[in-house]
Amino acid sequence: MKPGAGVWRSGAAYEPYVGRWSRLVANAFLDWLGLPAGRRWLDVGCGTGALTAAILERCDPREVIGIDPSDAYIAYAVSRIQKDRVRFQVADAAQLPEGPFDAVVSGLALNFFPDLAVLQAMREISPNGTVAAYVWDYSRDMQMLRFFWDAAVLLDSAATDWDEGVRFSMCRPDRLESVWLDAGFIDVISRSIDVPTVFQDFDDYWQPFLSGEGPAPSYAMSLSEERRSALRECIRGSLPMAPDGSISLTARAWAIRGRVPTG
Ligand SMILES: C[S@@+](CC[C@H](N)C(=O)[O-])C[C@H]1O[C@@H](n2cnc3c(N)ncnc32)[C@H](O)[C@@H]1O
Repeated sequence: MKPGAGVWRSGAAYEPYVGRWSRLVANAFLDWLGLPAGRRWLDVGCGTGALTAAILERCDPREVIGIDPSDAYIAYAVSRIQKDRVRFQVADAAQLPEGPFDAVVSGLALNFFPDLAVLQAMREISPNGTVAAYVWDYSRDMQMLRFFWDAAVLLDSAATDWDEGVRFSMCRPDRLESVWLDAGFIDVISRSIDVPTVFQDFDDYWQPFLSGEGPAPSYAMSLSEERRSALRECIRGSLPMAPDGSISLTARAWAIRGRVPTG
């Protein structure tokens, strides 16, 4: 099996893997944007709806549209976020819905469609608006994934080709800022958002990797039973475990925002 963009086929499996942490980042991200009520929002790569739900709870929007190519994730979002002001659509970032939007946002998805053409299109549908996103700090401080990939590469040099810290090199503040500036946004600012990721015990950390959902679980499930056990034990040995078995890590995301210039 070769590294791919990731498998996105079960919202129920995604939630305990990353959805629960994405929700925490989404809240801090929206507080940082500080956009007024009554706005029209687009959430690109909305997945199971972590960011869309946070927009509804915190931003009092006029309307939010969430798009994602995974029909399973969209079905999951629809089943849980049934509100008058929300619409979900199965669509790729290359098929953006009609604007205008006051804010086009994206949570943990930009690295799966980093094409500048998409950002240019976001600019077109958001005249005078805000275009903002957050991505994991895959190469350093998204610790849950760093422990996974550092152990994987230690045991199997071929895992480097899968390592999200290597593959998603755009997930650094300087790179994000360049991408935003190249797309023609103004008032471009980036910042880190750190959230605590506390696992009750090792199983709470490890089980979600067995879902095959997303890049790291896809890699884990591509291994033989024997090699997966070796990986599990290598990670177990490297994680900081408290006497009660809990594991307290931090997940860092990089957030970026910019405005579409007038005229
Ligand atoms: C890590 S998940 C993030 C989901 C959600 N935004 C969150 O914060 O939990 C990445 C999402 O990107 C979506 N995705 C992958 N390729 C995409 C593309 N070309 N256009 C739009 N979304 C895409 C996947 O379907 C998946 O839902």
